[in-house]
Amino acid sequence: MIRNIKGTKDLLPDDTVKWRFIESKIHKILNSYGYGEIRTPIFESTDLFIRGIGNETDIVSKEMYSWLDQGEKKLTLRPELTAPVVRSYIQHNLQSLGPIAKLYYFDSLFRRERPQAGRQRQFHQYGIEALGSEFPEQDAEVIEIAYNIYNQFNIKELSVRINTIGSSSIRENYIKILKKSLSKYKSYLSPISQKRLDNNALRIFDSKNEDDKKIVEDNAPFIFDHISDEDLNHFNQLKNILDKINIPYFHDKKLVRGLDYYTRTTFEITSKNLGAQDALCGGGRYDKLVKQLGGKNTPAVGFAAGVERLLMLINDDAFDQLDNIKIYISILGEQNIPDAMKIVSDLRKNTNLNINIESNRRSLKSQMREANRQKCSYVIIIGENELQSKIVLIKNMRNGEQEKIAIKDLNTYFDKNI
Ligand code: HAM
Repeated sequence: MIRNIKGTKDLLPDDTVKWRFIESKIHKILNSYGYGEIRTPIFESTDLFIRGIGNETDIVSKEMYSWLDQGEKKLTLRPELTAPVVRSYIQHNLQSLGPIAKLYYFDSLFRRERPQAGRQRQFHQYGIEALGSEFPEQDAEVIEIAYNIYNQFNIKELSVRINTIGSSSIRENYIKILKKSLSKYKSYLSPISQKRLDNNALRIFDSKNEDDKKIVEDNAPFIFDHISDEDLNHFNQLKNILDKINIPYFHDKKLVRGLDYYTRTTFEITSKNLGAQDALCGGGRYDKLVKQLGGKNTPAVGFAAGVERLLMLINDDAFDQLDNIKIYISILGEQNIPDAMKIVSDLRKNTNLNINIESNRRSLKSQMREANRQKCSYVIIIGENELQSKIVLIKNMRNGEQEKIAIKDLNTYFDKNI
């Protein structure tokens, strides 16, 4: 048997109902904040991600699905959406549409990570990117949106961690200090961290190796302690707004995030109900990325959130009310099928009901069992006697009562009975 690839998932009808529910809610919320949806291609030039995310990051160095196509072009299935959105923003000159481009996405991504609960190789994110404002109120809005979406889904016990890693101008000096404090321990670091210490020392913070983590924890200075006065002022203004709008947060000086493009604000929202992969969403400011990818100097900030992880936290009760007005059509007698199907066809044209028709000619008992299994609220029984008397029999599956209804009254029957 051919099976799906490890780390990917089929979404079956019971799943897709839930997906559509959360998708439509997220579209509504993000539209209400003035964000417009963007959809970019599923693959891009590999170069976009190398230049955008950074060569030494885990994503680029180990997790990308890349290949050479027939024309020898290096392509990659997108492992994240910030770089593609920025590419599109530059290519379509979106800054000409107004001072701030507010964009959002809900799409699938690919990373070759070790699959486990909450971590897949094809996964989905929704996220936003606000391009054009350098001010902390934009950072606050982004964090508020990320947080409010969880609120709207009634998800509690969240932890919002924020930090600032300063503007890029302080980076060079900090990296010198970081290298100096870790070089004494270089021989104890894992080979990949040794390489990172030389090439991109900030990425040492991403190591999952226990020895590396201990050395970093004990010896690395916090970047927060080396930021400029302007950076600190930006961060303090952000905190002040978050306090005012009642977003509970914790300042975590260790939060640097694993992608190279961040400047100043970084943040993550985690849930202790998720297990090892506890990050629901992450984001921050990336003031240099647009320029770095060939556009004009444009400050920007955004976040992305894992859809699978959100789904893991939504209580099944939230989905119970979905699609509950279902009707099952039970047809008795082969000779009655065409007339019965005409009745159903008219009912469909005149109502928005969710109607499922028996097409396997089973006994009434089996059809009732099927209606129950599908959690139908009503069964409409159409047989010989009913057709002759121009009626149908309606069984209310919630209270077991049956009623005879004239076929001509069927279209309006459910208006008052739902
Ligand atoms: P990220 O932290 O790499 O950031 O991913 C954001 C979220 O995507 C994570 O917090 C997690 O919920 C989900 N996620 C990541 N990898 C997986 C996986 N293998 N399986 C399931 N879920 C996963 C970014 O992608 C940045 N582009 C965020 C951003 C937007 N920063 C600024 N704007």
